[in-house]
Amino acid sequence: MAGGSTPPAPEHAGAVLAGRGVVVTGASRGIGLAIARALAARGARVAMLARGADALAQRAAELGAAALPIPCDVADPAAVGRAMQVVTLAFAGAPDIVVNNAGIFHPRPVTDITPEEFATAIAVNLNAGFYLAHAVVGAMRARGRGHIVTVGSVADRVAFPGNGSYSPGKFGARALHDVIREELRGTGVRATLVSPGPTDTGIWGDLAGTGRFPPRDAMLAADAVADAVLYAITRPAAVNIDELRLSSA
Ligand SMILES: NC(=O)c1ccc[n+]([C@@H]2O[C@H](COP(=O)([O-])OP(=O)(O)OC[C@H]3O[C@@H](n4cnc5c(N)ncnc54)[C@H](OP(=O)(O)O)[C@@H]3O)[C@@H](O)[C@H]2O)c1
Repeated sequence: MAGGSTPPAPEHAGAVLAGRGVVVTGASRGIGLAIARALAARGARVAMLARGADALAQRAAELGAAALPIPCDVADPAAVGRAMQVVTLAFAGAPDIVVNNAGIFHPRPVTDITPEEFATAIAVNLNAGFYLAHAVVGAMRARGRGHIVTVGSVADRVAFPGNGSYSPGKFGARALHDVIREELRGTGVRATLVSPGPTDTGIWGDLAGTGRFPPRDAMLAADAVADAVLYAITRPAAVNIDELRLSSA
């Protein structure tokens, strides 16, 4: 191979991530916790956001001193602003990487979704990504590097029955990612959409294996999604992974 830089093998991702400041939303369980764990294990400083303060503090303590729990409802723009101020103080500057992962999923027919539930789903699955990007993209541009990772879903492109409060937010999150990607092209700041299929986390409650939903043992592991995020953020600086779509083999 002539003239190119060699991407780090997964076991060398620590060389790329050591000391980096990363924000992960929805980091108290499921995919977000798997991402936070993978990052902390590679030496990154990880600001972990979620609403439930006790679970967040416990999970952060398990990850060690590099993990910083910040209770935050990402549906609340003022709360996101306050959390990002805490992050900026802790990291002595804007984060290097933001993983917009927090999400909620309540599959029901449109007739059974209340307007309040719809608004909440849009706020968490779509609006929060705007609040986060709005808070950090300026500083990342000024620095000439950074990475915004959005966790989408198979349902950010495909409409399934029962996803009347979920897909509109996820389709929107994909659109927001696409716009951010285009606005940042050539700035050194990267943007990646990681869109998993069904993944074995608590988001399914008792629904796994019922109706059209696969059983848990047919789902992706949360660690597989974390691995895809790691892949995207450890490519050479000149490479942007625009979108990764994951499904069970
Ligand atoms: N699991 C799947 O099959 C699957 C497939 C495709 C995409 N996804 C996406 O992957 C992401 C993570 O899902 P998951 O399966 O890991 O879900 P999960 O296990 O239910 O975890 C969700 C996380 O988000 C946090 N969260 C929820 N609402 C929040 C809010 N308003 N503000 C801050 N944090 C909030 C939760 O903590 P608190 O409740 O304490 O706030 C928790 O940490 C979501 O965006 C989801 O749509 C999941």
